[in-house]
Amino acid sequence: MTVPWLPELPIVQAPMAGGPSTPELAAAVSDAGGLGFLGAGYKTAGAMRAEIDRTRALTSRPFGVNLFMPSQDDADPAAVAAYRDALAPEARRLGVDPGTPSARDDAYDAKVADLLSDPPGVVSFTFGRPDAAVISAFQERGTAVVVTVTTAEEARLASAADALCAQGTEAGGHRGSFANTLDGALPLRDLLRAVLAATDRPVIAAGGLGTPDDVAEVLGLGAVAAQLGTAFLRRPESGASALHKAALADPAFTSTALTRAFSGRPARGLVNRFLTEYSDAAPAAYPDVHYMTSPLRKAAAAQGDAGAVNLWAGTAFRDAAEVPAADLVRHLAGLR
Ligand SMILES: Cc1cc2nc3c(=O)[nH]c(=O)nc-3n(C[C@H](O)[C@H](O)[C@H](O)COP(=O)(O)O)c2cc1C
Repeated sequence: MTVPWLPELPIVQAPMAGGPSTPELAAAVSDAGGLGFLGAGYKTAGAMRAEIDRTRALTSRPFGVNLFMPSQDDADPAAVAAYRDALAPEARRLGVDPGTPSARDDAYDAKVADLLSDPPGVVSFTFGRPDAAVISAFQERGTAVVVTVTTAEEARLASAADALCAQGTEAGGHRGSFANTLDGALPLRDLLRAVLAATDRPVIAAGGLGTPDDVAEVLGLGAVAAQLGTAFLRRPESGASALHKAALADPAFTSTALTRAFSGRPARGLVNRFLTEYSDAAPAAYPDVHYMTSPLRKAAAAQGDAGAVNLWAGTAFRDAAEVPAADLVRHLAGLR
């Protein structure tokens, strides 16, 4: 299937909110013939626009911007309060107080309005699907719309999009499921087959991909491109913290797991002390838990304590080497 708005190489650099996605990374990937992405999650609309401007100054090639859909979580206040109490010893140890839950919409409306006023080539959505009116408003402006899906049912619900990003359970970072649940979660190859059977939309495959063979395999199964996040984390252009980059290469970290411990939504990270101790207690309450653990994560990072920060990583984290992003794009596409 030919998709006119995708670049010549079938490699998409995953949007990675929280620091790793930078204009430099997106521009390097797009300039190399892949599709670079900015992650607008957690940012204000103004900060998102500043990153778009900077990326446009670095590359004349198309790139994408990713938005989080507003949280639909009906968080149980008692469960949120109990988790706050459970965090108290950890907060005391780090010398901070747990944070206070705040806005649940990630400034979605402001970001959509800003993007529509001067849109990038591609916009993708995570944690749900936008309204039909938002999808068509982008399409009328020539912007391709991608929706992240984690089940065949979500794929059917998102069929107005120009493409779907099928995210398997192997993926690093947050699962982009519409609801805060692991129900129906599938590993990438199974999900890809299910999504391709459920919709005629082009499908971008994401989750646990790390090598040219992995990319060739998902293209062989029918994906139009492969989206990789973890593989880009240790690149010089990545804004991942030094602590995160070091942990990905540290033999002391041997596995990854899905957890709600840091944010209240399932996300995959390297198994560290905090993940081990808090996963069972963490409620399905996003972004409440994200706000509560924020001061703890910041303090732990400042203290160089890799045991208490979220070290997002997919199952193929061992493939994440330190070469420049452009070299990785060409390597993954089988060009060298
Ligand atoms: C550090 C990190 C941050 C992420 N942030 C986002 C994000 O802001 N938006 C999004 O749609 N996906 C995000 N993801 C998920 C990616 O889009 C993608 O599904 C995932 O990286 C693919 O799996 P891989 O990491 O094994 O390559 C993130 C992944 C990582 C590793």
